[in-house]
Amino acid sequence: MMPRRVLVTGGAGFIGSNFVHHLVAHTDDAVTVLDKFTYAGNAASLAGLPEDRVAVVRGDICDGALVDELVSAADVVVHYAAESHNDNSLDEPRPFVDTNLVGTYTLLEAVRRHGTRFHHISTDEVYGELELDDPERFTERTPYNPSSPYSSTKAGSDLLVRAWVRSFGVRATISNCSNNYGPRQHVEKFIPRQITNILCGERPRLYGAGANVRDWIHADDHSSAVLRIIEAGRIGETYLIGADGERSNRMVLESILTAMGEPADAYDRVADRPGHDLRYAIDSTKLREELGWRPALQDFARGLLMTIDWYRDNEDWWRPQKAATEAKYRELGR
Ligand code: NAD
Ligand code: DAU
Repeated sequence: MMPRRVLVTGGAGFIGSNFVHHLVAHTDDAVTVLDKFTYAGNAASLAGLPEDRVAVVRGDICDGALVDELVSAADVVVHYAAESHNDNSLDEPRPFVDTNLVGTYTLLEAVRRHGTRFHHISTDEVYGELELDDPERFTERTPYNPSSPYSSTKAGSDLLVRAWVRSFGVRATISNCSNNYGPRQHVEKFIPRQITNILCGERPRLYGAGANVRDWIHADDHSSAVLRIIEAGRIGETYLIGADGERSNRMVLESILTAMGEPADAYDRVADRPGHDLRYAIDSTKLREELGWRPALQDFARGLLMTIDWYRDNEDWWRPQKAATEAKYRELGR
């Protein structure tokens, strides 16, 4: 039998590259990555993968002709490409509109023409924020209420997918996942920023009081969930992905400091992010009961230690990003 041909958009980013590694390890699929290699894309994240299994195309998901050609040669499209960072979206929203909305539209028109199976990667941020003491968590039925330019463009892209399923019969599924951590995450994001600050002898930076809660999942578990949805998910359905990993930012930062041999209070408090969502929390019952998925790594302390070790051992990967990232944060006062 011919191997399945999978087109992974954004496959040079943090979670997309994790998924490419996952596909190579757990399937016989032939993978094509389509990535623009923005500041967030990194060829080193795909290093070492077999060339006869993984092809890499540098290009923009807004480029209709290129997207059409690649989609025509794929059996499945898994769409990770996005502008992904909230702080950037508050500073300069335009690329978020282009990539997250127009890019998703461009892919949807191509899969519609070619009848290709499509899986759309999205975020729990489309649901807005929860109160700290709210006993409810997000489910597939929670109304959309995004806060930032990032989350509103992701919400818009989800709605485009739903409309293309209903109006044009596109064979698509959507997943909304909580905060990922693990190797190969850009140093602009919370956990790698703090780890690499400490490795550089700089103090970590906590926004506001650090009471905000995020629901952490290891990127490997996100990838196994996406593969399960592609293989067994029902067309037109949305699945929430989460690993019951709620923690306040302050708790996470103190864990990083302690694990790296620093006093737990050796950080600076900086200006809060405007419109900062208080809490996200995922109820992934549907995915677990309908598709039998379970996270493999629920021990956050162990996952954090593995992540710290990865950044300690892979300075060549992150060092080129660090100075420019911190310069940008200095301009934002964070
Ligand atoms: P990332 O910023 O690390 O990677 C994004 C990738 O997309 C990069 O390789 C970049 O070069 C590429 N890209 C950007 N614009 C492009 C364009 N116009 N054409 C082609 N490629 C383009 O992001 P990430 O954290 O890996 O997130 C990947 C996806 O997962 C996003 O859709 C994001 O919304 C979603 N998601 C992320 C998280 C998280 O915690 N990071 C959680 C849930 C969902
Ligand atoms: O919930 C899923 C989302 O998680 C994804 O859709 C996004 O793509 C991803 O970036 C992430 O969004 P967050 O805004 O939650 O992640 P970030 O790593 O930017 O920040 C996590 C928390 O840490 C947030 O409450 C802000 C805070 N923070 C962040 C940075 C960079 C700090 O306190 N200090 C920092 O230096």
